[in-house]
Amino acid sequence: MTPASPSLSNPNISSPVIAIDGPSASGKGTVAALVAQSLGFHYLDSGAIYRVTAYAAQSAGVALEDETALAALARALKLHFDGGEVFLDGHPVGDAIRCEEAGRSASRIAALPALRLALLERQRAFRAAPGLVTDGRDMGSVVFPDAALKIFLTASAEERAQRRYKQLIGKGLDANLANLLRDLKERDARDAARSAAPLQQTADAVLLDTTSLNIQQAVQQVLDWWQLKVAQSSIV
Ligand code: CDP
Repeated sequence: MTPASPSLSNPNISSPVIAIDGPSASGKGTVAALVAQSLGFHYLDSGAIYRVTAYAAQSAGVALEDETALAALARALKLHFDGGEVFLDGHPVGDAIRCEEAGRSASRIAALPALRLALLERQRAFRAAPGLVTDGRDMGSVVFPDAALKIFLTASAEERAQRRYKQLIGKGLDANLANLLRDLKERDARDAARSAAPLQQTADAVLLDTTSLNIQQAVQQVLDWWQLKVAQSSIV
């Protein structure tokens, strides 16, 4: 696929970042991965890093409140992504980190500033030519503040609970809509209320409410905004 922004000398411009932040189950991961694919850009699922860290801590018997030990563990983590799968110490852990329990644990440790700091450079290292699409909670606000395009992607809590429900049932997993909605609201509240890199729409981010959009429409909207940016900033 043809990259949208070739041959620039400034690495921040030759490796532009599209940052997609938003709450749980908004679909930002799916949208981000498809936008990356369409542009031929790299893709970083930052939430997976928090999930793997929580999983590694639990496997190693490190308490999810032990900020110092968690930060040390995060720095030493042998983590890599390949073909949509996440590997810890060379073993695939995708299934283990995608359950709701793993999401809750990730959200708990994500409130710890030292842990976030320990993961900062690891996330920034994913920036590479011809560009990066990344999704999370603080991609535009903290990790890539100079992102060329920042999007706050959301949907109503009810719609997000429905999407998560369908996703879990589709994987043959047990799911209860009412419990999912409650968990999702709890996680939103924790992610938004924490002092370290809270979930928020920054002033320079555009709002994409996908409550009544399907994935293809959401992806197209991001691509349209990107083309507009490229045209405005004469990147190509
Ligand atoms: O899939 P979902 O949106 O529910 O979660 P995720 O993106 O995989 O992230 C799991 C948890 O990690 C979130 O609830 C956040 O608390 C945390 N997280 C974060 O704090 N900062 C990020 N950049 C990404 C995730």
